[in-house]
Amino acid sequence: MSSTDTHPGLFVTFEGGDSCGKSTQIALTKQWLEDRGVAPLLTREPGGTELGEKLRELIIHGPDDMDPHTEALLYSAQRAYHMETKVRPALLRGEVVLQDRYLDSSVAYQGAARALGVDEILQLNLWAVRGLLPDVTIFLDLDPEVAFERRTGEPDRLEREPNSFQHRVREQYYELSKTYADRYRVIDASGDIESVQQQIRRALEPLVEKHLRANKVGNA
Ligand code: TMP
Repeated sequence: MSSTDTHPGLFVTFEGGDSCGKSTQIALTKQWLEDRGVAPLLTREPGGTELGEKLRELIIHGPDDMDPHTEALLYSAQRAYHMETKVRPALLRGEVVLQDRYLDSSVAYQGAARALGVDEILQLNLWAVRGLLPDVTIFLDLDPEVAFERRTGEPDRLEREPNSFQHRVREQYYELSKTYADRYRVIDASGDIESVQQQIRRALEPLVEKHLRANKVGNA
């Protein structure tokens, strides 16, 4: 299945820099869907499967000398398995998938911020997932300096990078939002939790409606 193939599901991904508020917003989006009679599959990268969660630990808390190529390959390896065993089957069953990060994260973090090459990382990941792209991508846009203030706990391996790293990530997301304007929804994540959630619901509403009508489930 590639992005040009059809599946009866709705594949929603959430993207953004570190500490942009993704987890909170995904949980609220799930609640909104459940109130409409839809039980979405919530999943994340890196992670989402037993193997993926183990790899997540190794990538995020791995050795300081992990080189960018190894890091990029580990992200794409967990992704290939995650998509093959969990996400693609759910989409083929017609489910709504809410996914915390996908290949755009690799393009922004490894391709741009780590300077491995945006095209190379995109091709590697498209190969890993056999071309499957999201139906819609919610990009939570937040100034890295503001995000930094929101950070709690000990920084992990990627959070220890200088702030310029997060600025490069953000710039690449802007590029992606232009290249994939049809699937990208840019959300101003600087407001309070409720106002950000309202923007997300407005952005998703037409797609969710269409999905519910096509599948005749929920309160469509
Ligand atoms: P999270 O904190 O949003 O769960 O993401 C974990 C970290 O991994 C975060 O710093 C972003 C980074 N990351 C990449 O660098 N490349 C990827 O492909 C993914 C999925 C995450």
